[in-house]
Amino acid sequence: MQLIHTIAELRAALSQYRHPAVVPTMGNLHAGHLALVRQAKPLGDVTVSTIFVNRLQFAPHEDFDTYPRTLEADCAQLEAAGCDIVFAPSEQELYPQPQTFKVHPPTELADILEGHFRPGFFIGVCTVVMKLLAVTQARTALFGKKDYQQLMVIRNMVKQFALPIDVVGGETQRSEAGLALSSRNGYLSPAQREEALLLSATLRKIVTALRAGASDVAQLEAEGMHALRSAGWVPDYVAVRRQADLQAPRGGDDLVVLAAARLGSTRLIDNMEV
Ligand code: PAF
Repeated sequence: MQLIHTIAELRAALSQYRHPAVVPTMGNLHAGHLALVRQAKPLGDVTVSTIFVNRLQFAPHEDFDTYPRTLEADCAQLEAAGCDIVFAPSEQELYPQPQTFKVHPPTELADILEGHFRPGFFIGVCTVVMKLLAVTQARTALFGKKDYQQLMVIRNMVKQFALPIDVVGGETQRSEAGLALSSRNGYLSPAQREEALLLSATLRKIVTALRAGASDVAQLEAEGMHALRSAGWVPDYVAVRRQADLQAPRGGDDLVVLAAARLGSTRLIDNMEV
């Protein structure tokens, strides 16, 4: 496996390949990322993972400075998972001058749910992903379904810009008890890891109710918010939405239940398709 830090070296290394399959990450990898790398292997002739903590997608009060940078451990795991090239640029390399050209995703998709509570988040995500797709010459790009809205925003961006790239989603990986794997789980204390199970349990309860025919979505969302609040969480949203466009259901749609909530100082997100 090659570890590459510059765009010039990456281009040189990729020149012999026709179909890079790329897994963009911010590092601090867990089994969910590694599953994406294994999923990527048969989808291209070279498997590339990028590791870059993207300042543009963090608000000033968020955890950009403390986000764990664990390059050595990440590389060992990526190599074991069969990754061929790791591209880990410095900020100076990826943003040699202030990134004033940015990708602004449409408000109806990017200013709801995560985008409502993290203004500008998807501008930062789209801008860096566009750049990473360009420098890695991706023909297939894989993103985890745990960031459901992110996957949808990127899929739409790639489609509207007619980029010759297949965007592939990877299933959310969970602990045996059901906690969705996330780099931010590392912020949780052992006791909080137990408490954190309430998030997936809350989603599962709503999914079960919907499967059983419940149709009062507002009521289900309110009960979910209440369950989290009563256990001391600070929920941002519990929402039942259409899988197709994350808008409110109108009847007969395939649904997804999404939630974001703060447990102590850690903000967790999760979702389940119905
Ligand atoms: O999901 C992530 O880790 C990031 O948002 C991504 C897609 C690598 C862009 O920085």
